[in-house]
Amino acid sequence: MNFLEEVILKEGQALSDKVLKVDSFLNHQVDPDVMRKVGEEFARRFKGTGITKILTIESSGIAPAVMAGLELGVKVIFARKRKSLTQNEDLLTANVYSFTKEEKNEISVSKKWLTAGENVLIIDDFLAHGEAALGLAHLVEAAGANVAGFGIVIEKSFQSGREKLLKKGYRVESLARVASLSNGSITFTRQTEE
Ligand code: G4P
Ligand code: NA
Ligand code: NA
Repeated sequence: MNFLEEVILKEGQALSDKVLKVDSFLNHQVDPDVMRKVGEEFARRFKGTGITKILTIESSGIAPAVMAGLELGVKVIFARKRKSLTQNEDLLTANVYSFTKEEKNEISVSKKWLTAGENVLIIDDFLAHGEAALGLAHLVEAAGANVAGFGIVIEKSFQSGREKLLKKGYRVESLARVASLSNGSITFTRQTEE
């Protein structure tokens, strides 16, 4: 079991057979020590692949993305779910369908911070059905930049996100892969490559 799986077992709660609550370190309160280790692990896995920028999405992707950016020595940009008052530059946008909310949301980044030729690592807190992940990849490609891969803190391996991303040829590195949340107990996929 890796460090993150240990934290998830200790602090996480299976709210249902589909939803994992981890608001003690990731989704509400943020544990800087855990996030530092997460950032180090993303950096270790993507070192040597020529990452020039990290893209994430507000709000829970920002903490792990910033720690990875610190380790890799690159800037971090987060896609917004709502337009900012000061966001008067040209925007790149993508539509993201939310399975939980059953609605489409537009996400956006300024063209100023995501430009052609960049090699972008996309980081997010959760990978579920992969809709947000695909929307982020769309932003990168619309900018004329390359998707170097995905760094996911917690993947729900029983949902379709990983498969969708692999099918499109993307590299997916998930630090914890949850196999099941059934009966209130959290289990991980056997591997979790170190
Ligand atoms: P899904 O239907 O594919 O599961 O994803 P959806 O777009 O509906 O996800 C809505 C929000 O719920 C996202 O955060 C996503 O990261 C998060 N999420 C999905 N599955 C889980 C889970 O099992 N546990 C937790 N804690 N979160 C999950 P968001 O609304 O963008 O919130 P935030 O990033 O501002 O925290
Ligand atoms: Na989230
Ligand atoms: Na997220």
